[in-house]
Amino acid sequence: MLRGKSIILGITGGIAAYKGAALCSKLTQAGASVKVIMTESATKFITPLTLQTLSRNPVYTDTFDERDPSVVSHIDLADHADLIVIAPATANAIAKLAGGHADDMLSTTLIAATCPILIAPAMNVHMYEHPAVVSNLELLASRGVMFVEPGTGQLACGYVAKGRLAEPEEIAAAVEAWFARSGRLRGKRVLVTAGGTMERLDPVRYLTNDSSGKMGFAIAEAALLMGAEVTLVAGRTAVSPPPGVQLVRVESAQQMLEAVTGFYDEMDIVIKSAAVADYRAVNISGQKLKKNGERLVLELERTTDILETLGKRKKNQFLVGFAAETEQIGHYAMDKLRRKHCDLIVANDVSLAGAGFNGDTNIVQVFGEEGLVETMPLLSKREVASRLLDIIAERAALPGGSEK
Ligand code: PMT
Repeated sequence: MLRGKSIILGITGGIAAYKGAALCSKLTQAGASVKVIMTESATKFITPLTLQTLSRNPVYTDTFDERDPSVVSHIDLADHADLIVIAPATANAIAKLAGGHADDMLSTTLIAATCPILIAPAMNVHMYEHPAVVSNLELLASRGVMFVEPGTGQLACGYVAKGRLAEPEEIAAAVEAWFARSGRLRGKRVLVTAGGTMERLDPVRYLTNDSSGKMGFAIAEAALLMGAEVTLVAGRTAVSPPPGVQLVRVESAQQMLEAVTGFYDEMDIVIKSAAVADYRAVNISGQKLKKNGERLVLELERTTDILETLGKRKKNQFLVGFAAETEQIGHYAMDKLRRKHCDLIVANDVSLAGAGFNGDTNIVQVFGEEGLVETMPLLSKREVASRLLDIIAERAALPGGSEK
């Protein structure tokens, strides 16, 4: 499964460091070339010789121990890694990565690395629940770092609670699953729209909606992780876009239409998760509107339906639309799928708690030509994105999959 893959295994200083040895052995047996970096504290729990023997590679513990004068070790290691796994990851190692510290071999290599990072935390339950640790984990997740959650059970400190390192088999399975998924969209160009449009009324006022961009950004990030080249057309958003995408900022539905149609011909997959205004002001006032009377009537006109336009112009693109509904989800989703010539419609019932606009979670049903394809319960938007991309990758790869 892992033949030809270069993995850096970072082991930090917790009692679960001994499980790092079993993980190293599993990854090596699966065919990966594993280079181990240990923090100084990790070497108090387990010796570098153990890891050297299991990985059949030198173990790195000191940034200044430069063995090959032709390279700078931490840069060279970072440049050649396909994936970095930190297991166990202590609260300190997590804080250092979140804060961008680079004061030992592992943290310095992490800052130099551009490959994905998978972290398996292990610590006492109170440490794991400490607000500083929680917010560091959230920050890392927002940067695309992946996690294998700790398990619940007997902790070395005597507590029976959450915090023990996931078993080496589970971490190795997560690594294998990541590699299996990571190349699925390699060579594909994916266009994602995210956020809400803003329809100006005057220089300081506009019509918009509650879209935060979280759903679209999670989709863009998941597509990147699967090896796609991602163009992200984003309207008004409340969070930062994932790094590594080609980002195009737009304001109005018309600007989104122009940006999306401009890229359309060169795209393989288009996913329209943006909340686009259906109406805009007929006249945008050049000056701030004055409050002249008790009532103000705004005249609005329809915007162009971007998804429908794309559906009509579809050649080989695999087209995915969203549907924000509050009733008869299946009926309206299938109607949109057929009318707008989509390959899939992702319907969210935005009246449900935990679904739709703004939050970190969503509840969706995915529809295809044949009807309901998958129902996803309450999940993080990242998990929804990754499951959705799995469905898209599978369908777009079928013969004629993007030619329907
Ligand atoms: O951004 P978040 O806060 O994470 O919230 C996510 C979300 C709720 C915005 C997202 O999950 C979602 O449902 N996006 C679609 C919202 C929407 O506009 O739905 P709709 O049913 O009105 O439109 C159906 C489809 O047509 C959508 O793909 C939409 O992008 C598209 N459309 C709509 C109007 C228009 N003028 N042009 C379009 O392309």
